[in-house]
Amino acid sequence: MASKFSFDEITNHLTLTGFVFPGSQIYGGLSNTWDYGPLGAELKRNIRDAWWKKFVQESPTNVGLDAAILMNPKVWEATGHVSTFNDPMVDCRACKSRYRADELIKKEFPNVDVDAMSFQEMDDFIANHDVKCPTCGQKNFTTIRKFNMMFKTHIGVTEDDSSVVYLRPETAQGVFMNFKNVARACRKKLPFGICNTGKSFRNEITPGNFTFRTREFDQCEMEFFCQPGTDLEWFEHWKKACLDFVESLGPKAENLRFRDHEKAELAFYSKATTDVEYDFPNLGWGEILGVADRTDYDLRRHQEYSHQDLTYSETYIDQNGKTQVKSYLPYVIEPSMGLDRLMLMVMVDAYDKEELEGGDSRVVMHIKPALAPYKVAVLPLQKKLVEQSDELLAKLSKEFMATTDVTGSIGKRYRRQDEIGTPYCVTVDFDTLTDHSVTVRDRDTMKQDRVAIDSLVDYLKAKIAA
Ligand code: GAP
Repeated sequence: MASKFSFDEITNHLTLTGFVFPGSQIYGGLSNTWDYGPLGAELKRNIRDAWWKKFVQESPTNVGLDAAILMNPKVWEATGHVSTFNDPMVDCRACKSRYRADELIKKEFPNVDVDAMSFQEMDDFIANHDVKCPTCGQKNFTTIRKFNMMFKTHIGVTEDDSSVVYLRPETAQGVFMNFKNVARACRKKLPFGICNTGKSFRNEITPGNFTFRTREFDQCEMEFFCQPGTDLEWFEHWKKACLDFVESLGPKAENLRFRDHEKAELAFYSKATTDVEYDFPNLGWGEILGVADRTDYDLRRHQEYSHQDLTYSETYIDQNGKTQVKSYLPYVIEPSMGLDRLMLMVMVDAYDKEELEGGDSRVVMHIKPALAPYKVAVLPLQKKLVEQSDELLAKLSKEFMATTDVTGSIGKRYRRQDEIGTPYCVTVDFDTLTDHSVTVRDRDTMKQDRVAIDSLVDYLKAKIAA
């Protein structure tokens, strides 16, 4: 079941506490752009690192890459993005509101399989059904216009057709550009994966729902190259690895599901595609990541457009004992995740409001300790203990993201750390001066332990890793 708290309540909390701020706020913002504040920046780094650890560090077949955002525009001609990376745009003639036709249909007819419709079929559907403008209630739409979602800019000083470049709409193509480089330089044999993470840009017609759909977002993508014929096995393997990864970030299992794409919904080159979805309060199920069997489509297209040989060669011994060479284009399994959506899922799922004994209540973010922005807060019981507390903070900061808070009662300070998801609070009190121990308070259980300062780092490390 989706969180019992509303999406607005949770996102208000995120902007108030410093996870997310509206972009360019003092100038009135810029349509649905967001900045991650100090807490969001930490959380994002931790989730990206967790992805890198699972898909690069702990996957012996895989390696990482950090590819450029600006690429030769022929890349996007080859992939079909220049000609077909379009959203179906319609305008309401009465009030001038602009919509994506597929979203408009989905809103009024949630059971219609709009993903399987062509733009022409959407046009016909809107004309022949009771689809009204959500803003003014009229039924007076333009026909669908195709809207290319790539951001265009110019490289160098001249601004003509020859200098056009695009901001990459996906990180994946940087990997295909380097398939041969990686295979050669790292002596990689099939099967192997290349992981790439960073910003992608799409000029979405209807960005919205906080950071769920934005025009600038981070992706964590892997292209896993394998022998044709083994692809569906690898597809199942990476599908499971993706679900394991998402589960490891801590969301409740009942809020996650796979959604296999129907045949009609599949891209023409794809043999299979599955999404992992999360059940967001008020928004419903939303895509967090997709796993696709892309066959040899990308390499084949790049080979055709670049006139370079992108085949992979392997030797084998034939029936006569002779060494032979076989060259082919590998098939590709692509797990593609939206980092901002993973973050939104983690933050939404972690938000809780609890009634406490004595009629008190608290807001608490149950973020997994390993992902929490701050792992520990060091709190001097009284101002007189700030020096000792700062000394301990300096020691802990060498190991963890640590913070401090010296104002208000200890209870208030615990609440403030609960609100930003800090899993452990360490209180320095007057006994600390003699017994060289501190009180460690656990965010989730609110239980307290007395721990010797000498063993504090190991104690916290063990808790955070648990
Ligand atoms: N290379 C394949 C690819 O890019 P996609 O389904 O278009 O596939 C992959 O995008 C993931 O990127 C999505 O599952 C989603 O998490 C994220 N994503 C896509 N568009 C987004 C947007 N406008 N805002 C935030 N995240 C987005």
